[in-house]
Amino acid sequence: MSITFPDPLRIADGTYLIRPLGQAPGAPVAMHVNSLVIQGAEPVIVDTNARLLREPWAEQVFSLVEPQDVKWIFLSHDDTDHAGNLDFVLERCPNATLVTSWFASERMAGEMELPLDRQRWIGNGESFDAGDRTFVAVRPPTWDSPTTRGLYDTKTGVYWSSDAFGTPVLGLVDDVAEMPAEMLAETCMAFSSMLSPWHEVVDPAKLGRWVDRVAELAPSVIVGAHGPQLTGTSIGLALERMRMLPDMPVAPLPDQGVLDQLLSMLQPA
Ligand SMILES: [Fe+2]
Ligand SMILES: [Fe+2]
Repeated sequence: MSITFPDPLRIADGTYLIRPLGQAPGAPVAMHVNSLVIQGAEPVIVDTNARLLREPWAEQVFSLVEPQDVKWIFLSHDDTDHAGNLDFVLERCPNATLVTSWFASERMAGEMELPLDRQRWIGNGESFDAGDRTFVAVRPPTWDSPTTRGLYDTKTGVYWSSDAFGTPVLGLVDDVAEMPAEMLAETCMAFSSMLSPWHEVVDPAKLGRWVDRVAELAPSVIVGAHGPQLTGTSIGLALERMRMLPDMPVAPLPDQGVLDQLLSMLQPA
């Protein structure tokens, strides 16, 4: 797997996307593992990336905010590509409070020791004040951990969608609108299906109400961990596609045949 660390992308006032991009040897597409830095009266780190990427990730994050200035660490959920550096960030940022939930904290208990007196438990629909703005935790329509909450910044209108609204990419782009439209139509649906294969048993009207919750935020930007940012007309299009997910077939995953192929590629001739 080759990982590149493009320069952080400014997506709104004081809001930067850290956007490492990974590509397996011979793979036709690459995948992001993003997180956010939000400067402001009380700076926030949104998700903490993967343990294996700690050094270059921390270098970019702390080029945008001084560790002692970080006031909040928002954890969208407890998967390893989001919580991989959580204990490290808590140690580096002694003035930061971890915004998580009871269940996420419980699920990480075997992995790391999280001080209770540095946590704040914020459930879906709840908010917290960060000095010059309020943040609202809003669960995205698709997710792969029951602890998932996205984060809406009421000052900039940026909505962090956690794993939702992702897509593999052919290479680095700043905005999903730069991707070939036909490819995006397929890859974003396949990604949503892989993330939430339970869509096949979901009532479209009920999932639609979850999509409504994000639409009602009227976000200026939607961005999550696994794709480029969505702006302008891409947002409405993505929301409409999300509504169609329950009627889609579940996306097939690479199987043993693919693994055999990969292994044969790795074997010396
Ligand atoms: Fe996840
Ligand atoms: Fe993820």
